[in-house]
Amino acid sequence: MDETLLVSEPPEKRRKSMTEEEPEVVDRFCDPTKPISVPFQDVSAAAYKIRGGIERTPCLRSQMTHLYGMKIFFKKEFLQYTGSFKERGARYALEMLNKDQRAKGVIAASAGNHALALAYHGQELNIPITVIMPKIAPLMKIQACTKFGATIHIVGANLAESKKYATKMGEEQGLLYINGYDHPHIIAGQGTMGLEIVEQVPDLDACIIPVGGGGLISGAALAIKSLRPNVTIIGVESEKCPSFSEAMKAGKPVYTELHSTLADGLAVPTVGVNAFETAKHLIDRMIVVKEENIALAILRLLEMEKAVVEGAGATGLAAIVEGLVPELAGKKVVVALCGGNIDTTALGRVIERGLAADGRLQRFVVTVSDRPGSIAELTKLIANLGVSLKDIFHERAWIKSDIFAVQVKVVCETRDQEHSQELHEALKSRYTHLVWGPRY
Ligand SMILES: Cc1ncc(COP(=O)(O)O)c(C=O)c1O
Repeated sequence: MDETLLVSEPPEKRRKSMTEEEPEVVDRFCDPTKPISVPFQDVSAAAYKIRGGIERTPCLRSQMTHLYGMKIFFKKEFLQYTGSFKERGARYALEMLNKDQRAKGVIAASAGNHALALAYHGQELNIPITVIMPKIAPLMKIQACTKFGATIHIVGANLAESKKYATKMGEEQGLLYINGYDHPHIIAGQGTMGLEIVEQVPDLDACIIPVGGGGLISGAALAIKSLRPNVTIIGVESEKCPSFSEAMKAGKPVYTELHSTLADGLAVPTVGVNAFETAKHLIDRMIVVKEENIALAILRLLEMEKAVVEGAGATGLAAIVEGLVPELAGKKVVVALCGGNIDTTALGRVIERGLAADGRLQRFVVTVSDRPGSIAELTKLIANLGVSLKDIFHERAWIKSDIFAVQVKVVCETRDQEHSQELHEALKSRYTHLVWGPRY
């Protein structure tokens, strides 16, 4: 579908007003000079207000318990109607508007789940929603927001630029700006996930929560620690955007450089001031995971839970996959799977990366003789081990050794690490020149 049919470009007059020099309009709910520590009562109030509008998602024991030596329970927030926990905060923030603001509407800047959540609940509650999305926002999410009746403007190369535009437009048009991770009502709304977790797994020992701007972990940690002070709260980020870990080290939110990540929902350069103020004493540990383990976590969830979870949503499990929480062995651990909105094309790539990280997709280069039958011999060796060939390519022109030799590049699928090891051993004992793994 043509993008221009779905989204409106902002009027020229307003677009011109977004210049680099212009100061950003301050969001009075997220003032760095007056950070708010959200009280527990606000989470209970939110739970009462949003009941009926939000799914109480299941929190079920997983088969992965046997794989990782801890009693794992998954809080399945990807089963919310728009595919993420963001609906909790969005619904509460909208429910809390006064009559006048309900009529005027609200504005937000988001590339994904916050936008979807606001658009859907705005439609449900009959509140006009405007969302400023950066140019990098996935078309699938833009289309979905438009379907829910929101007004979408595509402005800004990144979220920071979209936010600058949104706060200004909000001020000009009387639309309330709702920060997706730092507005106090958003934090209180997200906290309702923590209340449910305590009801569903009353004797939990620990809860692992992915962290972006910090709205989810601050609300959920507030709820859990208020009711179960001994539960360990662990926050997880990708190595590509460790902004909450950096904030914890610095004792305040600090700008952290971002790099492209599978966990796009977590890519926030500076965490929320209220989120940080609320959560800083409640988080026991922050963990940073490798990208390949996020891919592997997504793969495990597909294969073992039959669950489609996006990168940000699977980051908590990635900490377990990477072996970074040995202190939780034998403990009852709830892992928040907070979103499922992943593009199908991205999912395909992630599966391949996950298979590679798991040692089930292998590649190697082997030098064989240029006699008829040499490649047949190689493929026979592979077939005899029950390994499945995915790609094979051979070249003569660029190899430097023997002119009667051919280099064969192979990509193949094995059952598991052990099976890969078996193939590796067989190749080593048959061929002198072998480059195994991702080095070639
Ligand atoms: C799926 C998913 N998980 C986790 C997060 C992180 O939430 P927060 O920004 O409140 O820390 C987000 C944020 O957009 C998300 O979309």
